[in-house]
Amino acid sequence: MTQKNIPWYMNAVFYEVHIRAYCDSNNDGIGDIPGLISKLDYIKNLGVDCIWILPSYPSPLKDDGYDIADYYGVHPDYGTLEDLQRLINEAHQRGLRIITDLVLNHTSDQHPWFQQSRSDPNSKYRDYYVWSETDKKYQDARIIFLDTEKSNWAFDEKAGLYFWHRFYTTQPDLNYDNPAVIEEMRQVMKFWLDMGIDGFRADAVPYLIEREGTNCENLPETHRILKDFRSYLDKNYKGKILLAEANQWPQDVLPYFGDEDEFHMGFHFPVMPRIFMALGKGDASPIHWIMAQTPTIPDYTQWCIFLRNHDELTLEMVTEEERQWMWEQYAPDPRMRLNLGIRRRLAPLLDNDLRKIMLANALLFSLPGAPIVYYGDEIGMGDNIWLFDRNGVRTPMQWDESDNAGFSSAEADELYAPVIDSNEFSYKTVNVAVQEKDPHSLLNQVRRLIEVRKAHPIFALGEYEFLAKEHTQCLSILRTHTNEQVLCLLNLTDMDQNLSLDLSKYAGKELVDLMTGKSQGVIAETTTFFQLDPFGFQWLFIK
Ligand code: GLC
Ligand code: CA
Repeated sequence: MTQKNIPWYMNAVFYEVHIRAYCDSNNDGIGDIPGLISKLDYIKNLGVDCIWILPSYPSPLKDDGYDIADYYGVHPDYGTLEDLQRLINEAHQRGLRIITDLVLNHTSDQHPWFQQSRSDPNSKYRDYYVWSETDKKYQDARIIFLDTEKSNWAFDEKAGLYFWHRFYTTQPDLNYDNPAVIEEMRQVMKFWLDMGIDGFRADAVPYLIEREGTNCENLPETHRILKDFRSYLDKNYKGKILLAEANQWPQDVLPYFGDEDEFHMGFHFPVMPRIFMALGKGDASPIHWIMAQTPTIPDYTQWCIFLRNHDELTLEMVTEEERQWMWEQYAPDPRMRLNLGIRRRLAPLLDNDLRKIMLANALLFSLPGAPIVYYGDEIGMGDNIWLFDRNGVRTPMQWDESDNAGFSSAEADELYAPVIDSNEFSYKTVNVAVQEKDPHSLLNQVRRLIEVRKAHPIFALGEYEFLAKEHTQCLSILRTHTNEQVLCLLNLTDMDQNLSLDLSKYAGKELVDLMTGKSQGVIAETTTFFQLDPFGFQWLFIK
């Protein structure tokens, strides 16, 4: 792969936005599409390539829009289809791409398909969902929303039958053994692709098919259906992508890339908690370990890597012992815990310590894959653990120090959720306007990080090798691509670290700090010495 023929998604930086939370244009207290459009220049200036918007479809919002009642519309709180078309066009005019969620696994129980399915046994929709006379089938499937759901089955009075649901009871699973369901979803894809959407973050893909005697995840039948969606995309739409949300171990995500005939991208879930473990313990081993578990993926596929998103920080892919440690360290208040995770934002998790926040970002950006930045984390927003479910990490974006953080001109008590206005995370101090003015702000440092990373596709595409693994207080990574090298050195502790590396292979070459552009001297014949500040990092180009 030369620099020229890299598909756009391989070297992309993504920005995850919740329309509800971003900007309210009509002052009803709810963020909307025109509001988001008005902030596209801000997003463009972050330097990202692609926006991922959370579901914006009509929905009773029992799962904040992941319970879809109509795949072909826009939630009236957010605007109209015309608004969405304009959003896509305006993003494209700025050279930004935009992907949206494709929720395949389930609908809302308010979806007309489900309403007809439950009321009429002779309707063609009866077979759109997974019905059963008993609730004893598929007992080996785990429950995902552990804090609220007791079973994956729920009894429906109208149908007199049980229906299958992997998430909330209000989200019945679609029946992918029915070809009509697959065809419906192809039509949904077509509709949005024709509007110009650049691809889909396909939600909860491991659970499409159920089979007795299995855990009903990652089944071969599921992969066949997903490949079918991909081939539809490839035949009709060039340059559009599918991104898999499969919260699984990397070796189980591997089949989702197929033979470059399933997903273009897949989230790498388990590296995420290990970044927090590495920082919390001052120990690089969790990163060494998880990367050793990470298989090579096909040429034109890519990992999506992230620190936080709109969900709880999931601790499904860690040991019981590690989970306890993570909870004790990062969620001391039980209110901070949810299901098998932690409902907190990046900055509060890292003690609002700018050095740690930048180090976590730099670590993420040093790894192979395409990073995603979650809205608000670029300015170090706080969270509100007292809000329901995961809403505490979905509070209004903090634009400036005016009322409601510049998010809306509605009365404060009309906002869909209160702005963060207490202590060190108050919008009075944590906001875009303040940080724009300060060259050393988190916002400007994150921008610089994105800029440097984008200028050097080696970060996204290159091979990696861990150096000085015995010096566990630091993470040292040598990235290599074609005949370029970048050395990523990260100090995971709050003390100075002296690192000695054998770089004799490159003796005589100059080291240039990519963040500052300054020379850092020449590589020695034997050992080269480095000094890293507490929680400091260096990205050194070997010239
Ligand atoms: C995914 C989404 C999450 C949602 C769930 C059910 O995990 O990220 O927010 O609740 O799917 O659709
Ligand atoms: Ca609004």
